[in-house]
Amino acid sequence: MTSSPGSTRTPVVAMASGTGSLLAALLAFAERPSSSFTVAALVVDRDCPAIGIAEAAGVPVVRCEVGDYADREAWDRALRERVAEYAPEWIVAAGFMKILGPAFLGAYAARVLNSHPALLPAFPGAHGVADALAYGVKVTGCTVHLVDGGVDTGPILAQGVVEVRTGDTVESLHERIKTTERELLPTVVEAVVTRGVVTDGRKAYIP
Ligand code: GRF
Repeated sequence: MTSSPGSTRTPVVAMASGTGSLLAALLAFAERPSSSFTVAALVVDRDCPAIGIAEAAGVPVVRCEVGDYADREAWDRALRERVAEYAPEWIVAAGFMKILGPAFLGAYAARVLNSHPALLPAFPGAHGVADALAYGVKVTGCTVHLVDGGVDTGPILAQGVVEVRTGDTVESLHERIKTTERELLPTVVEAVVTRGVVTDGRKAYIP
């Protein structure tokens, strides 16, 4: 499918907690005349540089912090309500550092993507780059997957491989992984928006 400026593009809500370089890559891709999606809003769970990137692009920012709610469930429900205002077809966690709960995921079943900086199922969790480096693997990379109720456990859609170099630090390795993530994630978003996803138990693919 090809879009032209002014044509209807599929609304996607991005979520971030950090520097926002993946968000910037999504926004740059969405700006292309041929892109089929638009970033309708950014959700953040904390003060972070990603907010400035969204604002500079004219993208509304929804700030939803766990500490502002009675408990995690209330936060999860509030997140669902606030995101629903943008009627997204897909949600893209691009460096979002919170686990999404059942109320949110139930509203967007199999339509939430996450980018993880390791080759899942190896090295899930918040320290995937450091864990891979400490383990001594020679290749690592990134994974774009559907989000389920677990920690980086959902069906895998795409992966990119990055070599570990002698002398790598967590920072140097993570930066090379993020270079790959910035290419892979927008490509996968474009693919799922235009072609959808087929799931078969643990397995998922873009037809
Ligand atoms: C990415 O490596 C992502 O996989 C991880 O956090 C990083 C986000 O980077 N969860 P940035 O904030 O988009 O630069």
